[in-house]
Amino acid sequence: MSRRLRVAILISGRGSNMDALIEAARAPDFPAEIALVVSNRPEAAGLAKAKAAGIAVAAVDHKIYAGREEFERSLQIVLETHAIDLLCLAGFMRLLTPWFIGQWRERMLNIHPALLPAFRGLHTHERALAEGVKIHGCTVHFVVPEMDEGPIVAQAAVDVRDSDTPQTLAARVLEQEHLLYPRALRLVASGAVSVVGNRVLGAASAPEPALIVPSSG
Ligand code: GRF
Repeated sequence: MSRRLRVAILISGRGSNMDALIEAARAPDFPAEIALVVSNRPEAAGLAKAKAAGIAVAAVDHKIYAGREEFERSLQIVLETHAIDLLCLAGFMRLLTPWFIGQWRERMLNIHPALLPAFRGLHTHERALAEGVKIHGCTVHFVVPEMDEGPIVAQAAVDVRDSDTPQTLAARVLEQEHLLYPRALRLVASGAVSVVGNRVLGAASAPEPALIVPSSG
């Protein structure tokens, strides 16, 4: 197998998607290793969990920098020091500048808790219920300067139930997030997919195809 890509996960909070990626990357045939977890919040619960899992961790506290670019330049130095190839945003709650995104063009993934391009932004589960959609889900996409846009690598869907609250819906979507993100990272890190315009092609012929996963009941 060719060299495993070195992945950094960027978090701001609890890091449950981070956990799923760390767990998946333990498989000997996984084409990437989680080499680093970085948080912009030193107190993030995910950071302690990553450390306990034996992963290198770093905190780059955005509050001590004069502006976004100063923060990002520090972050970039940390990433370069660890020879990172690919970034996974996982609940990373900072807007990134076009400069930083340009450094990681087609090398930075994000997971969003909705079926993009529907429900960009925050409070996706509340908004999905308010709009009365019958199918909701999550999306892994490449990051571009426009928030919650960028070529879609994979999506997973759940049905919306009459009894759903934002919390129950969030919990079912999160379950799918934990399956989807490792699969999407595998696709990208193995070189199985390519970006053509706004589309990610090749997933269908990959060992683990992009998923549409209806939940039962
Ligand atoms: C997830 O719902 C993810 O889709 C969104 O932020 C949340 C992060 O949760 N971007 P966790 O920190 O991975 O548990």
